[in-house]
Amino acid sequence: MDIHELEQRTQQALDEVQSAPDAAAVEALRVHYLGRNGLLPQWMGLLKEAADKRAMGQALNRFKTGVLAAVNARKDALAAEAKAAQAGAFDLSLPGRWTRRGRLHPITQLIDRTSAIFRRMGFTVADGPDIETEHYNFDALNTPADHAARDTQDTFYLPGGNLLRTQTSAVQARWMEAHKPPVRIVCPGRCYRRDTTDATHSANFHQIEGLYVDRRVSLADLKSDMDHFARELMGSGVKSRFRAHFFPFTEPSVEVDFSCHMCGGKGCRVCKGSGWIEIMGAGMVDPNVFAAAGYEPDTVTGYAFGMGLERLAMILFGIDDIRRLYENDARYLAQF
Ligand code: PHE
Repeated sequence: MDIHELEQRTQQALDEVQSAPDAAAVEALRVHYLGRNGLLPQWMGLLKEAADKRAMGQALNRFKTGVLAAVNARKDALAAEAKAAQAGAFDLSLPGRWTRRGRLHPITQLIDRTSAIFRRMGFTVADGPDIETEHYNFDALNTPADHAARDTQDTFYLPGGNLLRTQTSAVQARWMEAHKPPVRIVCPGRCYRRDTTDATHSANFHQIEGLYVDRRVSLADLKSDMDHFARELMGSGVKSRFRAHFFPFTEPSVEVDFSCHMCGGKGCRVCKGSGWIEIMGAGMVDPNVFAAAGYEPDTVTGYAFGMGLERLAMILFGIDDIRRLYENDARYLAQF
């Protein structure tokens, strides 16, 4: 064996060690090359016959130290790999890791809950724009230009004669204009009023509107549907009552109270001792509203209602300040 061949064998041995698949294979290579009966002692025995003993001795030395270093490096690498694999392994005996899950905002939950109740009653969920015209927000709803609700105190007017809708009732007018009776829709959505923010007011809030138009719809239908809604939303013992009120677009108009779901009507802190909680405005659609939409007031009747969802959330979830719904403190909102 000459020096050139030895150098080739050296390189081959290094390659083998570096690609050895496990510790046992590395050890087998070490024994094969460097062991007592391995190749190195055998080659050492040939040294005295070498042409250039000095050069051959140095080459054999390089072989020995090179292969030994490679063996140790490969053993270390394999051990590190094994340790890392063990650290990443799935230990079924460990307690689970807690991950934070997202929750729906209380208002979103209420939109879903109220819409679902009315859908089961045969209503369709309708939608309308936040930016409205005076026509749909007021005129078509029998709200004359000198009505107090039109005061700039209450309405955000936009350049170009538009406004931010003050009530989801605007969707009623749009829907009737585009659909023939019978109509049965609910419309959840954002509303805007120039209110100063306090514990119970917000300039941006949400309502859900309802409209049912057909032949011979009566106040008794409104009453029984409100009773049903009250039971579905608040619990089987809850009922509704009507108090006379005024809205421009309904005649007669009522305010709908639900009996207190906390005390069952006996009187408590939630209902301020009265046993009743004001929930929404409602009434029979005014014939002028039908006329504006192109319906024939002589052949159809209907009821409409509208309620504030923040108010409902505060009552149902026991939230004391409307602003808590908008502070976006996930720790607070995650409670509901
Ligand atoms: N739009 C009324 C409000 O915002 C509520 C309402 C809707 C009343 C439909 C009657 C009928 O107060």
